Amino acid sequence: MNTDYPVVIYGASGYTARLIAEHLRDMGVPFIAAGRNRKRIEEAMAIVPGIENARYEIVEIEHNVEALTKLLTGRKVICNTVGPFMRYNLEVAEACLRSGVHYLDTTGEQSAILQLDEHFGKEFAKAGLVMVPSTAYMYGLSEIGAQFCLETPGVDSLRLHGIGNAVPTVASAQTILDAVRRPSYYLKDNELVRYPGIENGKVCTPSGEVLITSNWGGSSNPIWFSRDGRVRNCKMDVAIWNQELYKKELEIERAYKVQLQWLPEDQLTQVMDHMAKGVTPDTPPRESRQVHRSIDICLATGNNVAVKSTIYSTGGYLTTGLLQAYAARRLMSETPRVTGLRSPSSVFGHRELMGALQSWGYASIKVEQLAAPGQPL
Ligand SMILES: NC(=O)c1ccc[n+]([C@@H]2O[C@H](COP(=O)([O-])OP(=O)(O)OC[C@H]3O[C@@H](n4cnc5c(N)ncnc54)[C@H](OP(=O)(O)O)[C@@H]3O)[C@@H](O)[C@H]2O)c1
Repeated sequence: MNTDYPVVIYGASGYTARLIAEHLRDMGVPFIAAGRNRKRIEEAMAIVPGIENARYEIVEIEHNVEALTKLLTGRKVICNTVGPFMRYNLEVAEACLRSGVHYLDTTGEQSAILQLDEHFGKEFAKAGLVMVPSTAYMYGLSEIGAQFCLETPGVDSLRLHGIGNAVPTVASAQTILDAVRRPSYYLKDNELVRYPGIENGKVCTPSGEVLITSNWGGSSNPIWFSRDGRVRNCKMDVAIWNQELYKKELEIERAYKVQLQWLPEDQLTQVMDHMAKGVTPDTPPRESRQVHRSIDICLATGNNVAVKSTIYSTGGYLTTGLLQAYAARRLMSETPRVTGLRSPSSVFGHRELMGALQSWGYASIKVEQLAAPGQPL
């Protein structure tokens, strides 16, 4: 195998991996497309727009630390898309550590982020490497919006809402259901507080429609901001335009609490994955930017300040492909200014990430100063 490929896309037969490949090609970055089944990877790569002049190689590989370490040796960064991440991220992170490679993934699951930190956070920091989960639409964009608000001194509380329109992919549906049985948290008075279960609320969209939200696994933001001394409170919820999805989530939580939680882990996973197939049986068609649009709102407050950011974006999976490729390109040639487990904005800069999203036409942001000391009465 040629060693001249700095970036590895892992899970390369998947939907998100294809979009990462598309953006890496656009940026002229050579990559390895790796995964457990060569034929499926070949089929996925064959339909990547522009693939005819991409420089890449396909590698079939087993999901274990030894095989992954061998693959990663001599590379700079991995884009890990093999989810649900709670099940599969440890082997990948350990291989990164052994081979001296930076780790990116697309998880939004709090438990998967905490698991990475618990097992490898300190060692990554010692090795001068970064692990950056959530380098994805969820919840990279909402973090960018919050970071813009935090530029206003005195802000200490973040209330975030995501309003999305997406068809979940196979692994996304599994991941959403997986999150139902994991603990999730919000930040209240500097402490991470556990949600008792799915918490539904309401959000008013900019056009005045009211949608039911769910805590949707809590989002990565309370975890990131629990490590930011400026922030005391952080809570996020998500509303999907297709309001059937939160009902499905509630049904599954009920089934889990009443019937399933006593099953042994391997059986439980099988049953949950079977239920996920009811949400998404097969890989959905490529996203349409005319349909799949999202709004991410952050209202940030302090004693006498209030600032609101609103990000309008298009194509959550496309956006994820861009963020991954942009982050990989940065890490393949830069020494990151921070190490260990970090959020996307803290490694790459929220203004730089927003700049990338804007320049590809994927998102725009409005920041409104609602109240500040000294404003004319
Ligand atoms: N946060 C966000 O905004 C965001 C955006 C996009 C994706 N995601 C997350 O990213 C993950 C991937 O999503 P996707 O859309 O790419 O899903 P997908 O199309 O279903 O792809 C999943 C990939 O993982 C591989 N895989 C599954 N189990 C494996 C195992 N045991 N060993 C090795 N490889 C395995 C699959 O390989 P096979 O083809 O061989 O089965 C496939 O390549 C999901 O967890 C999703 O939630 C998050």
